[in-house]
Amino acid sequence: MKIITDISEMQMRCVEARRRGLQISFVPTMGYLHEGHLSLLREGRRRADILVLSIFVNPAQFGVGEDYESYPRDLTRDAQMARSMGVDFLFAPEAAAMYPKGYSTYVDVEGLTERLCGESRPGHFRGVTTVVAKLFNIVQPHFAFFGQKDFQQLAVIRRMSADLNLPIEIVGMPIVRENDGLAMSSRNVYLSVEERRQALALSQALASARRMAREGENDCARILAVLRAAIEQHSAARIDYLKICHQATLQDQDRVDGDSVLLLAVFIGKTRLLDNGFLLGDR
Ligand code: PAF
Repeated sequence: MKIITDISEMQMRCVEARRRGLQISFVPTMGYLHEGHLSLLREGRRRADILVLSIFVNPAQFGVGEDYESYPRDLTRDAQMARSMGVDFLFAPEAAAMYPKGYSTYVDVEGLTERLCGESRPGHFRGVTTVVAKLFNIVQPHFAFFGQKDFQQLAVIRRMSADLNLPIEIVGMPIVRENDGLAMSSRNVYLSVEERRQALALSQALASARRMAREGENDCARILAVLRAAIEQHSAARIDYLKICHQATLQDQDRVDGDSVLLLAVFIGKTRLLDNGFLLGDR
């Protein structure tokens, strides 16, 4: 595995691989890898000849007062894990190289980005789509892999790729969970022992919603009221949003159907956690 920090070198290596007729899988991350990332790498390794992992804590997607500075970082540990997953290139550029002085171009996806996480984190998706578009131009992958835990992010990136005619297959991969149900996230390390216990409120809410929907309850407002009450029983929990939306438009639904996704963002103490899942079917 080669670790590359220089943008032109990364681009040159990928252009060269394409020239040789090789297929490239790309897993963009902010590092501090966990089993969720490893599932993306595994699928990437399976699908293509060359596997590229990027690790870049992207300042453009963090708002003022958010955790950009304290976001967990451990490149040595990540590199060891990447090597064991068969990564060919680990791309870890500096922020000053990605956003040099005078940088002024941003990618904005309208419509899908204003609600949910976009409402609580203004500018967040503009930062995500900008960096992902830049990384796509550097790596020029055939396949790019994203976790469904960031359900809205995946929908926004699919929209961007379609709208900009990017010749890249965007692959969404299922949420990977701890044994007790907590969705894996690099931010889980922020949780104290008691918060870690209360963080189960999210996956438990999802399980209750699924149970209600499968038992025939199709009134979204009724389901959400039950979940809200259950989450609010946890002293460390503060709901940022709790919605049942159409999987593609991300618009609120009144009635549960096969496209209904429960989306939730909940602060546990100071840590904002996400979870989501379809209410019907086995997705
Ligand atoms: O999901 C993430 O880790 C980030 O938002 C991404 C896609 C790597 C862009 O910085």
